[in-house]
Amino acid sequence: MTTRMDADEIAARASALGPWFHNLNLNGVWTAPDHFLGDYPNVKFKGFEHVIPADLTGKSVLDIGCNGGFYALEMKRRGAERVLGIDFDEDYLAQARFAAAVSGLDIEFRQLSVYDVGALGEQFDLVVFMGVLYHLRHPLLALDLIYENVAKDLMLFQSLQRGSDEVEPVVTDYDFWQVDQFERPGYPKMHFIENDYSGDPTNWWAPNRACSAAMLRSSGFDILANPDPEVFLCRKAGRGPFVEAAYPAKGGPR
Ligand SMILES: C[S@@+](CC[C@H](N)C(=O)[O-])C[C@H]1O[C@@H](n2cnc3c(N)ncnc32)[C@H](O)[C@@H]1O
Repeated sequence: MTTRMDADEIAARASALGPWFHNLNLNGVWTAPDHFLGDYPNVKFKGFEHVIPADLTGKSVLDIGCNGGFYALEMKRRGAERVLGIDFDEDYLAQARFAAAVSGLDIEFRQLSVYDVGALGEQFDLVVFMGVLYHLRHPLLALDLIYENVAKDLMLFQSLQRGSDEVEPVVTDYDFWQVDQFERPGYPKMHFIENDYSGDPTNWWAPNRACSAAMLRSSGFDILANPDPEVFLCRKAGRGPFVEAAYPAKGGPR
């Protein structure tokens, strides 16, 4: 439902809901014109939007860590029938709800952590998991939970990455005494950030490109496209043995 407001009202409301991480154009009012990454995420999106189906008619989309709603709004504009945005931060959800209302787009937003996606009891044609992995203490667990609970077909993924963009092929096994691969830039590596990075105490991890790819594959996602070093379009596939979200309780007390 469109919320009819003039530019001054939108600007006042947007300002009260700020600060914004997403620079959205709400009927001519920009929500984060001074973003440190420029016109974000619009500039980023232009580099990979072509890999996402242009027509999502009849499809369902789950945007995990939706923030101000940029990707949820874009997917709804592509015709998705149902779009659900989740985030654990109520302030960002309030921004997203406002942005959707001003834009006249019917999108549901719900407060939920990625670790709780099992509570949705629903699978989605497209899962958007952009810019969240490195904020998590348990990133691989999140990917496993997405695979097991909400992914049906496609997943659009992005992570902050540091280190090399080189990706060397991973072989199925390495001898115990073979250690040189660990020193090579194209081997999967993830840096653990003990303290703040970029002033943000929730930046916990920084994988290199090879590591993002390896974690996605290991969690059961085939990589269909990698149009930007940080962005991967994946399709749910099979998983190897020994992969599960956590050690499930097996039966009751013995
Ligand atoms: C860097 S922003 C990325 C926003 C958006 N997805 C994008 O790519 O532009 C990270 C978002 O993830 C959310 N977030 C962090 N941890 C989360 C969690 N455990 N569950 C759900 N959302 C989370 C934050 O509140 C924030 O909105």
